[in-house]
Amino acid sequence: MPIYLPETTATSADTLTPRQIVSELDKYVVGQGRAKRAVAIALRNRMRRQKLPSELAEEVAPKNILMIGPTGVGKTEIARRLARLAQSPFIKVEASKFTEVGYVGRDVESMVRDLVELAVDMIREERLVEVRDKARESAEERLLDLLLPPLHPTGDQPEPSDAGDHVQRTREKFRDRLRAGGLDERVVDIDIRERSFPSFEVITGSSVEEIDINMKNMLPSLFQGQQRKRRMKVQEALQHLAQEEEQKLVDTESVSRAAVGLVEQAGIIFVDEIDKIAGREGAQGPDVSRQGVQRDILPIVEGTTVNTKHGMVKTDHILFIAAGAFHTAKPSDLIPELQGRFPIRVELEALGTEEFVRILTEPKGALVTQYIALLATEGLTLEFKPEAVHRIAEFATMVNERTENIGARRLHTIMEKLLDEVSFDAPDMTDRDVVIDGAYVDRMLADIAMNDDLSRYIL
Ligand SMILES: Nc1ncnc2c1ncn2[C@@H]1O[C@H](COP(=O)(O)OP(=O)(O)OP(=O)(O)O)[C@@H](O)[C@H]1O
Ligand SMILES: [Mg+2]
Repeated sequence: MPIYLPETTATSADTLTPRQIVSELDKYVVGQGRAKRAVAIALRNRMRRQKLPSELAEEVAPKNILMIGPTGVGKTEIARRLARLAQSPFIKVEASKFTEVGYVGRDVESMVRDLVELAVDMIREERLVEVRDKARESAEERLLDLLLPPLHPTGDQPEPSDAGDHVQRTREKFRDRLRAGGLDERVVDIDIRERSFPSFEVITGSSVEEIDINMKNMLPSLFQGQQRKRRMKVQEALQHLAQEEEQKLVDTESVSRAAVGLVEQAGIIFVDEIDKIAGREGAQGPDVSRQGVQRDILPIVEGTTVNTKHGMVKTDHILFIAAGAFHTAKPSDLIPELQGRFPIRVELEALGTEEFVRILTEPKGALVTQYIALLATEGLTLEFKPEAVHRIAEFATMVNERTENIGARRLHTIMEKLLDEVSFDAPDMTDRDVVIDGAYVDRMLADIAMNDDLSRYIL
């Protein structure tokens, strides 16, 4: 699943020091200092690498990271936040989705193709912004042409100069009126190209992506769409024409080239659930296929060239961050070649009451903040006493210990249960102020949390 979030941060990613990267991550992820440190160094290293002479830069391999830690402690969260920060093309893939090529799963190269698609979107978006003013000007000209057809459309007899002046003056008058909104109610006919992408899905041994490439090359006309006249109001027409001009001004090929470059130099691929494909030689059954996936992934991590519809992509300098709980399998159960490509190992710690208190309240968009905001939309003022937050965290720890440890995810189920009544009754409540204190938390949660069987189902 690609995650696409070119969020603009106050500081440009290029200038962030490792310390600043960690403190940015601190805004969203509680604790896990060592993991944050490792990713901060990796990010900074690629900035350093880009400043090297190209010969030397070629030699510097990315220091891929393996994050090891129980479920729900922030592995994915750290990687996601890092990508936003780096404004790098970033995708997250589940290792377990891939099985041997031609079997059931997707072929592993698709992760690189997806990443390139994402980079293309990022760059196109950037370029579109760059040409926006120019496109708007051209659109205005085209619209004026439509509103004021030239006197001599054939253009073969030069107009007497005073007539020309007159035309020009009228045009400028129209331009002023157009900008002032005086022509908004007028209707014009414009040619639009209908985008008609035929949709079909083919399931064969080869990947969907490859088929996509072929179809577009073979049947260009199919993808062009048809010209059609449409009537629209001036404002709408202006917008439409501006969009058309933007597309014209952005050169698809240079976008592709830039995207490929960006992926090669700055791409990040997060391989989640890597422990699910751990399994060694000599094993039987499912292990054989797991090992197959590792063998498939290996060349991409080691550096290979992947053919995408935007060009060939070298994967040598893509940063890989792999993560897994490694409950049963251990990192040493990965094939040795793959282990070697993840030189940085960081362990994430299990979370306890103290961390839960902070997770509930501190990060931007923390759970408590979310619920307060949600209920405020109903005109309800929700207040959490500190002792209540502490109780919630304690219950989360207790349930994690007594049933299964699902880390911070437990907070979601507990909060939902805690606020079940308020969430349901909010619109009808006469008392508009709700105070959640320790007693409230106990009343809502104690019975369930103490009963292992119940909490297994409810929390
Ligand atoms: N240290 C933390 N600080 C803030 N929020 C956290 C932390 N750890 C987990 N969370 C929250 O818990 C949820 C699950 O976290 P995340 O997806 O990062 O888990 P994970 O470590 O990747 O687990 P899994 O091994 O199951 O993939 C997310 O909503 C995340 O925001
Ligand atoms: Mg995860």
